[in-house]
Amino acid sequence: MKVKEIIDKLYLENNASFEELLFLLDNLTPTDKVYLVEKAHETRMKTYGNTVYMRGLIEFTNICKKNCIYCGIRRENKQADRYRLTLEDILECVEIGDRLGYKTYVLQGGEDDYFTDERMIEIIRAIKDKFPNNAITLSLGERSYESYKKMYEAGADRYLLRHETATKELYESLHPGASFEERRECLRNLKEIGYQVGAGFMVGLPNQKNSDLVNDLLFVKEFEPHMCGIGPFIPHKDTPLKEEKGGTLEMTTTMLALIRLLLPNVLLPSTTALGSIDPVGREKGLKAGGNVVMPNLSPTSVREKYSLYDGKICTGDEAAECRKCIEGRINKAGFRVEITRGDNVAWAKENGYHKVTKGNIQLENIKLI
Ligand code: 5AD
Ligand code: SF4
Ligand code: FES
Repeated sequence: MKVKEIIDKLYLENNASFEELLFLLDNLTPTDKVYLVEKAHETRMKTYGNTVYMRGLIEFTNICKKNCIYCGIRRENKQADRYRLTLEDILECVEIGDRLGYKTYVLQGGEDDYFTDERMIEIIRAIKDKFPNNAITLSLGERSYESYKKMYEAGADRYLLRHETATKELYESLHPGASFEERRECLRNLKEIGYQVGAGFMVGLPNQKNSDLVNDLLFVKEFEPHMCGIGPFIPHKDTPLKEEKGGTLEMTTTMLALIRLLLPNVLLPSTTALGSIDPVGREKGLKAGGNVVMPNLSPTSVREKYSLYDGKICTGDEAAECRKCIEGRINKAGFRVEITRGDNVAWAKENGYHKVTKGNIQLENIKLI
């Protein structure tokens, strides 16, 4: 078995076995890595071309009842300075975002019981009233089937819920009191309800072996999410994992490239965490198959407080500055920003959305009835 042959197989068949993927991770040389990234890039060019979609991230609460041992806003971190945005604050972010060309907003927060279904529905409706053509992505952790359904019916389009790790023992060691099975159940429910769903995992967690990463790859292949968020684990100073080593740029870009080969249609963010461990991390992520960036739209007054890991970038920059900065970076890396909702291509086809373009600019994904 040769690594290059496995990469060729991945490129042609978008599949590989556990043994092949493990062999690849265990034996990947720098030359193989160049080839892997090349093939991932070719694959993304076939599905999405050189476009990159932007999502405006609104971190609306850092209050969380969970206690994930890697996370800086975990319940037991008494150092965290907690906040919640009001409906008005959120709408202000959304308006600024729309003017800057963000046609999707990601409402992300800790698992905060203040944001009941009623409150979330009010927020979702208020955004959709103002911007009916813009997409809303939620990222609020685990909730009941009914809750997910109500928010979907109120107008939410997508939901991000990383599976974090597909190895049960590792999952349980990182998430005291949480259930591996329940998280997976949530992912299945979200899909059944009709959301475009994002799974995803961290790279370089303490005690994470290559075989665990293969579990992640195969889980994602099987579950077939519309999006997949992958970032390096980065230690946070006020958590039990503060002394641990974090994930690397190399390992994370390898995972991005492999996910692109396994799921050619997937929306694959080049994450802020990747940009935080390397000055050109996000650019490298885009070159390895990534096609989404999620710049921050949260008010600057709270950015530093939404601290999941140390060294997060963009905490002092206004939304407009990030917008300009990110487009410059994307262009410099050889890609271009597309001002649209940026749906998963396979999902758009299935759901009757068609691209309407003017010149080489896509105006909107329009539903033809
Ligand atoms: N390092 C990297 N990513 C983290 N996340 C939480 N804490 C950290 C950390 N210390 C990720 C989790 C979560 C997402 C919102 O942020 O994967 O799902
Ligand atoms: Fe809460 Fe999410 Fe952090 Fe876990 S990772 S403590 S659920 S904000
Ligand atoms: Fe925020 Fe560059 S993307 S300052």
